[in-house]
Amino acid sequence: MGGREVAPSILAADLTRLGSQLREVLAAGARVIHVDVMDGHFVPPITFGANVVDAIAGIVHGAGAVIDVHLMIERPERQVADFARAGADSITVHVEATAHLHYALQAIRELGCGAGAAICPATPTAMLSDVAADGVLDLALCMSVNPGWGNQRLIPHSLAKLAALRELLGGAVALEVDGGVNGATAAGVARAGANLLVAGSAIFGERDPGGAYQRIAQAAWADA
Ligand code: DX5
Ligand code: ZN
Repeated sequence: MGGREVAPSILAADLTRLGSQLREVLAAGARVIHVDVMDGHFVPPITFGANVVDAIAGIVHGAGAVIDVHLMIERPERQVADFARAGADSITVHVEATAHLHYALQAIRELGCGAGAAICPATPTAMLSDVAADGVLDLALCMSVNPGWGNQRLIPHSLAKLAALRELLGGAVALEVDGGVNGATAAGVARAGANLLVAGSAIFGERDPGGAYQRIAQAAWADA
């Protein structure tokens, strides 16, 4: 997860043809597929469970790509084993959703997955400083919208938060940005230090998701 990648989020996909939508973005070069899991408690909507990760694992792994699970659920430490078993390669929990962040990250690693911690727009970046210092963090996810829904506008202060996180984390931890990423915002978040850019509606909301994926990736690192 340390490389530069745009990660299509299946939250915005046409679920009646999820397999073919995945094949389109994988054929276009996507190597990280983002799965948004919502429980109706931490955020109001309910989305996917481990069964969906299991269903897509063959297609994603068969293309040499990885599954990046973003758990927007309360007490995520109780669920991580199910998602790992289903085929998740990386699992991210919200710092606001557990009193046991360090434990959850260790548990994820012990399951053989990359361990990620996410912060909401109102959560200070310092919430990640101790787990980063302790070396149990593989990925930090900075929400650039309020979690729960796709197709929102990127909150401008996210750019400053990304820069602060990159400074805090150094180069070894992946920095993911999630929400409102599109062809117009991608370069700014990449410049601020994000190496992993989640995009949902800007990819699957377009008629040609593969082409949209490629345009965002080009825009993100055009000047790099
Ligand atoms: C929002 C999710 C995002 C969502 C982003 O809670 O975590 O991953 O899919 O959607 P867009 O790219 O449409 O803002
Ligand atoms: Zn997400």
